Amino acid sequence: MEVTNPTILIVDDTEDNLDLLEFALKRKPVRMLRAGSGKECLRLAAQYHPDVILLDIQMPEMDGFETLKHLRASRKSADIPVIFLTAQRKDALSIEQGLLLGAEEYLTKPIDIDELLVRTRSLVRLKKMEVELERTKADFMAMLIHDMRSPLGGVSSILELLEEPLLRGEAVQEVHRELLTSAEEATKRLLNLINDMLDLSKYEAGKMNLNREYIHIGKIADRIIKQMHPQFKQKGIHIQLGLEDNLPLISADANKISQVFSNILSNALKFTSPNGAVHIDIKKIPENAVAGECVQTAISNSGIGIHPQELATIFERYKQGIASEIVMAKGTGLGLAICKLIVDAHSGRITAESEPGKLTVFRFTLPVNPPTEG
Ligand SMILES: Nc1ncnc2c1ncn2[C@@H]1O[C@H](COP(=O)(O)OP(=O)(O)OP(=O)(O)O)[C@@H](O)[C@H]1O
Ligand SMILES: [Mg+2]
Repeated sequence: MEVTNPTILIVDDTEDNLDLLEFALKRKPVRMLRAGSGKECLRLAAQYHPDVILLDIQMPEMDGFETLKHLRASRKSADIPVIFLTAQRKDALSIEQGLLLGAEEYLTKPIDIDELLVRTRSLVRLKKMEVELERTKADFMAMLIHDMRSPLGGVSSILELLEEPLLRGEAVQEVHRELLTSAEEATKRLLNLINDMLDLSKYEAGKMNLNREYIHIGKIADRIIKQMHPQFKQKGIHIQLGLEDNLPLISADANKISQVFSNILSNALKFTSPNGAVHIDIKKIPENAVAGECVQTAISNSGIGIHPQELATIFERYKQGIASEIVMAKGTGLGLAICKLIVDAHSGRITAESEPGKLTVFRFTLPVNPPTEG
């Protein structure tokens, strides 16, 4: 993240100190504003919204603590990071009081200019990250609400449509049946979305409890394929499972691994063109010093594929690629994020490769025996 010439507001009641700092900062990549009192600081902070305030503690009338309280109380300056300037010897009490009041950092006099610049830069960077995080959070919320509204709106209008004829005691007709099916589908979509959200927040909070047992990953693949077979068949997609002989059992959570299969396969179902093909190949990979013995599953499908620049972010939550626009797929971009969290929790690895228009391959590799979990 590039940080360009931040503005520092320096507050000190001693003119000479300000002059010295101004001189020292002249050739540095910062812009300096100066204030000779707490009052002046409040005025300049509100007017210029500097990136950082360097605030002397000992000042007549309004001292640094008092000034900081006012800064924090005003909407215009509440979020500006403050570095406290303490007396020559490290004054533990002042530092503690300052940090309690919400100063981000402190420096002792005499000021080391390089240190001031480093601290300023890191505070500015931190602030930028906070702002970005807030924005991303707001985007997530907006997207989520949007995703929840459309199926819910659908269900609500279907219920309205059904209400009158049913209240009049009319017999259920084909058209009613169709409406009920759409309502059911929309409700399922909504439920899936809510479940994904809940899983994701639970997993991200580090609360993925794995119910480990020794499982045959080929059997899991087979079960998920059977469950999804009707959907693949309907789209004319050929699905094939290739298992290496004598696969070792792996210590893993069967439900979570099933979820990885069903998320990747549901993408394959969405993004493979009709009459295309999906292959699942599971094999042992040679033992290595880091992960020991592993089992690797490769799921490949023909179809639109993923652009190279999208590959880097495809496992992040809410990231959807061009494929999902092309097929106008319903989805939220949570499926792969959940896969990655699950595979990571198993100390495994998941990767994606794609040659757009031809072949897309998702590979996840799981250790047969997990490294000791902390
Ligand atoms: N097999 C694939 N072929 C082409 N693009 C894919 C494939 N799998 C995933 N993608 C791309 O990766 C994006 C993210 O996938 P992910 O499963 O996380 O989200 P989603 O399928 O869009 O929504 P959700 O899984 O939450 O319903 C998809 O939107 C799509 O652009
Ligand atoms: Mg998906």
